[in-house]
Amino acid sequence: MRRIDRIVILTGAGISAESGLGTFRDEGGLWAQHRIEDVATPEAFARNPDLVHRFYNARRMQAADATPNAAHHALARLQARFSGDVMLVTQNVDGLHEKAGAQAVHMHGELARALCPTCGHRWEAPIEMTVGEPCVACAAPTARPDIVWFGEIPYHMEQILDALQTCDLFAAIGTSGQVYPAAGFVEEARMAGAATVELNLRDSDMSHAFDDHITGPASKTVPAWVDRLLA
Ligand code: OAD
Repeated sequence: MRRIDRIVILTGAGISAESGLGTFRDEGGLWAQHRIEDVATPEAFARNPDLVHRFYNARRMQAADATPNAAHHALARLQARFSGDVMLVTQNVDGLHEKAGAQAVHMHGELARALCPTCGHRWEAPIEMTVGEPCVACAAPTARPDIVWFGEIPYHMEQILDALQTCDLFAAIGTSGQVYPAAGFVEEARMAGAATVELNLRDSDMSHAFDDHITGPASKTVPAWVDRLLA
């Protein structure tokens, strides 16, 4: 068996479900309550910035009150103790990996950040953003949440693809495999010869592409998986 020196872990909304943050596509999830085209596209923000701010303000407040669960803590432990490299890539915007003490690459942005679409400056978002809020650098009154919306290009893709092409193990935790490019990471890792494992409550759209499956709630499966890697 190939020695494991480099691990890439992709997390999705399922890892934060047990911290009380709803997922997007499970029953009653966020996309059952809100239309993506109303709140999560650049066109939506141009059309109705107030609605978009209110949607993300609610998410930001929930995330600020949320605490990491055993799965977030286990991944922080893995990053701190594993002898090789552990790159944690998250689609989540909630900041719970950092609250647990891990370092994550945020491919879909962060609720805690604001972005100026005029000059590209980023800063710490207030808990409630409002329409017409000025950029702290250039004063343009167009500040938006620093979230990658549908139709926009995810962040840090070069760094992530480089890591996938040289990893020995790829794991996807709590993600439905419905949103690209993240859904395609398993194929990238397989092409590099990496072992692949999916940790989820149930099968995802990409389950067929993984070598191994660990089924159950992340708060139980992730700590046990991390213990095995560190043993
Ligand atoms: P989804 O809501 O699409 O999928 C959540 C996944 O987590 C599902 O596969 C569930 O089975 C699984 N799950 C739920 N609870 C779990 C638990 N306790 N333990 C383990 N797994 C659990 O969320 P994502 O895949 O993260 O993008 O969605 C990807 C992207 O789509 C998001 O980043 C967001 C969304 O639209 C943007 O907003 C740009």
